[in-house]
Amino acid sequence: MMPFYFGTNFKMYQTPDVSRRFVTDLIEKGSDIGAAVQRFVIPPFTSLQGLPALAHEGGVWVGAQNMHHADEGAYTGEISPKMLAALGLDMVMLGHAERRQHFGETDEALNKKVHAAHRHGLKVLLCVGEDAREKHFGVERETVARQLKTDLHEAPAEIDLMIAYEPVWSIGAGGTPATVADVLYTVRGIHYTLADIFGQERAAQIPVLYGGSVNADNCGEYARLKEIHGLFVGRAAREVDGYLGVLRAALKARGT
Ligand code: PGA
Repeated sequence: MMPFYFGTNFKMYQTPDVSRRFVTDLIEKGSDIGAAVQRFVIPPFTSLQGLPALAHEGGVWVGAQNMHHADEGAYTGEISPKMLAALGLDMVMLGHAERRQHFGETDEALNKKVHAAHRHGLKVLLCVGEDAREKHFGVERETVARQLKTDLHEAPAEIDLMIAYEPVWSIGAGGTPATVADVLYTVRGIHYTLADIFGQERAAQIPVLYGGSVNADNCGEYARLKEIHGLFVGRAAREVDGYLGVLRAALKARGT
């Protein structure tokens, strides 16, 4: 049985001290959360050193928000998969909407990063989602299919992979929460595409998480969907109490 995945992306918030405090509190205050839930946090690079050892005491995974595809090289300001793997990280998030939007991250570049993460034994949390214009024209499924097929081009079936579906129009302060119908339509498309890429059997083992303006009030309706295997939360989980509040509400709705 797949666990219920629940994580937060710290984005460009949280200094190293605050990140450590977050993880310590998360473990302490969430000590009743059982093995049926896999929690994770994705802090900024500067918070990662030493964090996995602390987080693993409470079974919490730690990931990075991005990486370069090369092991090393003349790429000033970049962080390599080799460096992340040396920190004992569990995962790397790739293709977050804010990276695609503000840093021009392309699917071709993501494809190289996906292969690099796999080579270094890092689990990939691949983010996909359509923007407002693509939604307007009804090409949500086509958009996520294009992203998945390009980002995962020639990825081996055994790649350690999770998908986060995050519609761009629903992320962040100006975002609108998606309806259940919106989520189901595109998430079903994601499942079809994963089956296309990896075959039905393998695709069924790949967790698909939902993210975008998820909070304690609306998480239940997403968490109840059997097509969703977890939630990925930004603002509402920025404080530990918020994180645990959303998680507990989701678990209650799911009946876990
Ligand atoms: P949000 O962010 O929950 O604040 O909308 C989600 C995300 O960017 O992953």
